[in-house]
Amino acid sequence: MLVYKTEEEIELVRRNNQLVSKTLAEVAKLVKPGVTTLDLDRRAEEFIRDNGAIPGFLGYGGYPNTLCTSVNDEVVHGIPSKYVLKEGDIISVDCGTYMDGFYGDTAYTFPVGEISAEVMNLLKVTKESLFKGIENAIEGKRIGDIGYAVQFHAEKAGYSVVREMVGHGLGANMHESPEVPNYGRRGRGVMVKKGLVLCIEPMINMGSRHIKQDDDGWTIRTIDEKPSAHYELAVAINKGKAEILSTFDYIEEVTKNKI
Ligand code: MF3
Ligand code: CO
Ligand code: CO
Repeated sequence: MLVYKTEEEIELVRRNNQLVSKTLAEVAKLVKPGVTTLDLDRRAEEFIRDNGAIPGFLGYGGYPNTLCTSVNDEVVHGIPSKYVLKEGDIISVDCGTYMDGFYGDTAYTFPVGEISAEVMNLLKVTKESLFKGIENAIEGKRIGDIGYAVQFHAEKAGYSVVREMVGHGLGANMHESPEVPNYGRRGRGVMVKKGLVLCIEPMINMGSRHIKQDDDGWTIRTIDEKPSAHYELAVAINKGKAEILSTFDYIEEVTKNKI
């Protein structure tokens, strides 16, 4: 079942995603060698609560934390820990909030200190592929058009697209229909119409597209242990141009937009 939102409901989803975006900017201030992923998680939880929301992931399906912090070959759902970030790492930070009956859900992959040009290109292409998807998240297109655009851009650069994990609708539930794969065929899948809110979140691997899950029951990593990048934005469907409800602007004011 697809849930179409009113303007008022979309406004509440926007407020959540703006708060997630600002939380990620707070996290951005801390991302550097020597910091643990649990330090990032604590700061995010504090900031979310100070702003009158609750962490959207905490307790979701039993998830133990506020953030998902996925380092290097970890694709998504890495659990914050005593792991100390080191120069050359990359870290995907995925964050959610719940406030006024709706969710926010946004993610950004940060370089830690200086990283190799090779890995920086993976980040750049993954972020670009998200925006290629967003260009297709408009009334009259189909879900397959979004996935095709993401996949085409990532594969053209020699990277691979994770299949098992997908984007999704967002609203009063964190995961709503439809699924939004990062691969697909043009003109296939459900039509996107005004009132839908989608999270588009490419997970792009440097090597093989295949993944495995750790024994912790959460952490997803690449099978070949090569790096993976992940960016996520929530968008509301409109005619002509998607309305992006989250933003990377606050983050990139902090990081000076190196990607
Ligand atoms: N934020 C993830 C997504 O983008 C879902 C995290 S689920 C959790 O869909 F349980 F790990 F929080
Ligand atoms: Co997310
Ligand atoms: Co999501």
